[in-house]
Amino acid sequence: MDKIIIEGRNKLSGSVRISGSKNAALPIIASTILTAKECVLTNVPRLNDVLVMNKLIKTVGGDTDFTGNTLYIRNKNITNFKAPYDLVKTMRASVYVMGALLGRYKQAEVALPGGCVIGERPINLHLQGFEKLGAKIKIEHGYIKAKAKTLKGAEINFDVVSVGATANIIMAATLAEGRTVIRNAASEPHIADLAVFLNKLGAKINGHGTNTIEIRGVPELKGGKYSITPDYIETGTFLVAAGITGSKITVDNTPVKDIEIVLNKLQEAGCRFKINGSKITIQGIDRPNPANIETQPYPGFPTDMQAQWSAFMSLSSGASIINETIWEKRFMHIPELNRMGANISVKGNTAVVEGVAGLSGAPVMVSDLRAGASLVLAGLRAKGTTEISRIYHLDRGYERIEKKFEMLGAKIKRVK
Ligand code: UD1
Repeated sequence: MDKIIIEGRNKLSGSVRISGSKNAALPIIASTILTAKECVLTNVPRLNDVLVMNKLIKTVGGDTDFTGNTLYIRNKNITNFKAPYDLVKTMRASVYVMGALLGRYKQAEVALPGGCVIGERPINLHLQGFEKLGAKIKIEHGYIKAKAKTLKGAEINFDVVSVGATANIIMAATLAEGRTVIRNAASEPHIADLAVFLNKLGAKINGHGTNTIEIRGVPELKGGKYSITPDYIETGTFLVAAGITGSKITVDNTPVKDIEIVLNKLQEAGCRFKINGSKITIQGIDRPNPANIETQPYPGFPTDMQAQWSAFMSLSSGASIINETIWEKRFMHIPELNRMGANISVKGNTAVVEGVAGLSGAPVMVSDLRAGASLVLAGLRAKGTTEISRIYHLDRGYERIEKKFEMLGAKIKRVK
């Protein structure tokens, strides 16, 4: 298994270009199942999760061609309505093909995704939504089977804000008869991106980017070309990298408005920045001010930035509180950060961070994608060598992360 090795305490400088958003690309690729016409997606990040979604499209009978960051998809002859366990177990977002298959073919069979290290990750809301649209759901032999004669628009009120359930219901409702309204919907930028893409193909979706989304069913979709929105979590990760190393860098091709709450927190921590169109130039700080966070659905502080923020706050000049309200077990990075000299204690869904003056490099292990990002950030700041293992988690969500940091002047390499 590959490892990343970092010699810390090098200042970063220069400019980094943000890739397309993983969490937008995954539902958008799945949603192409809704049309028989060719879709051309550009700015698609070449990540392991995206490769899995590409494989899923091929598994159900689609024809794809992934060249550079452009993905050509032709889903004319879908012949198989099943997402098998060996793919679903590697990526929970595989469940997105369910909404798309059900939407176009009124049938789908998807292996039940299990829990994962950050939490249980139920899909009850997805299934309740499909049932409201008229699908019959059965769970047999570890598979969810959904079937409908027709899908009919419905009023769906989620009791928890769920990105995945919102995307799945948007897909299933796009070709349904009549009007669907999703209340307490997710307003994340990747959900809005899915809706903008589907509207380009002829769907009638309104209210995306807010908590009430309306979908008026249409009989069919056409094809189209679409550029995936840049990744605001990758942006946040590079901004915090500048913060934690006290460096000045420019983050380019960035969705500035999507990352506003993280910018506010960076300012509270003492970082300074200038925004120029889609570029953010940030000046980091040696010992940040303590800045508490509580993770919330968008536009709140993203749970996918919590681990990186924990690493940053470990160097703060006082104590800070981190409240994780989305994923009950998302503190697996804390013991690893403590091995590098951080002083963080966890009780339930709260971490209390007592800032320390410095971190020291150590061998550490990645438990999940964003935990991996936080360890890279800590390694960049730490004195000495940090050896990060199990980096396959990082490859799921960051495109060429070590190359991008190397271009910024970090001493970082990938070894076999
Ligand atoms: C997506 C993101 C993930 C991010 C998360 C929250 C993708 C591919 N992944 O995951 O990076 O951390 O949003 O922003 O976009 N819940 C239920 N029942 C359900 C579904 C969810 O109770 O049927 C709960 C979950 O346990 C969790 C909360 O809702 O507490 C949010 O989960 P959800 O937004 O669905 O996360 P994902 O879509 O899996």
